[in-house]
Amino acid sequence: MLHSKKKTIPYIKKKKSEGGITALTSYDYPTTKILSDAGIDLILVGDSLGMVLHGKDNTLEVTIENIIYHSSMVSAAKPDSVIVADMPFGSYHSDEKEGVKNAIRLIKEGGAEAIKLEGGRNRFGVIKAILKSDIPVLGHLGLTPQSINRTGGFKVQGKIRKKAKEIIEDAIELERLGVFAIVLESIPAELAEKITEKLNIPTIGIGAGAGCDGQILVFHDLVGFTNLYLPKFVKKYADVYSEMVDAVKNYIKDTKNKKFPGPNESYYLNKNIDEFLNGNYKKNR
Ligand code: KIV
Repeated sequence: MLHSKKKTIPYIKKKKSEGGITALTSYDYPTTKILSDAGIDLILVGDSLGMVLHGKDNTLEVTIENIIYHSSMVSAAKPDSVIVADMPFGSYHSDEKEGVKNAIRLIKEGGAEAIKLEGGRNRFGVIKAILKSDIPVLGHLGLTPQSINRTGGFKVQGKIRKKAKEIIEDAIELERLGVFAIVLESIPAELAEKITEKLNIPTIGIGAGAGCDGQILVFHDLVGFTNLYLPKFVKKYADVYSEMVDAVKNYIKDTKNKKFPGPNESYYLNKNIDEFLNGNYKKNR
């Protein structure tokens, strides 16, 4: 049963008029608890986990099993936020039937409430089929990381007129098909604002300026979980990498100096250990 604070797809759609839709990625139970407690509207189990958790250079090796596995940890946390699971590369590309089958797995086995998939005109067929199966779809236009081999890398999209017009047309058609919102990734702010004006469904930007109806980031980037390169569009709100390195260094120091564990972290018999082991303890008292 849905509890009163639980956010839903209609809630996200309605927030178009207010703006300020907040979304972040999560791949596990504790992170999901943090995001839900903080009041995030939408959690994406993104295929970015291929880079963030698996350490790969791109998202292409992520499997449907990976996303199901991580979605099930996220849904176990029962967040107030809407849970959206990403369709990884290869899970909806060969035929529509397979796309629908995999989308259903994300809902049934992963506990997601909606799915996201990348692409416009090249993916209308499969998007239509998934929507027909009663699964809400979050669109994703602009920089689509699953297309990096075609586009030549993680590059800002829509900087030439023809491509900008294509993105606008695709966004309009995605709305007509029935997606509940669209992620706009790495496109010029003016273009994102224009698309946001034209649509009745929300846009959620990442590297697309402040004119979108909401924003999404990778949680690990936002909190500074690693000290690796971050794209220009990321704002680091914390530096937990440095804090964690410091914590581990202090643990090493304390362990070497016998300062850890201290009395607070130890268990005691409060009896003489030799007498206790000899069984004399009771007799001698
Ligand atoms: O995979 C992902 O995390 C994403 C978002 C960053 C939009 O697609």
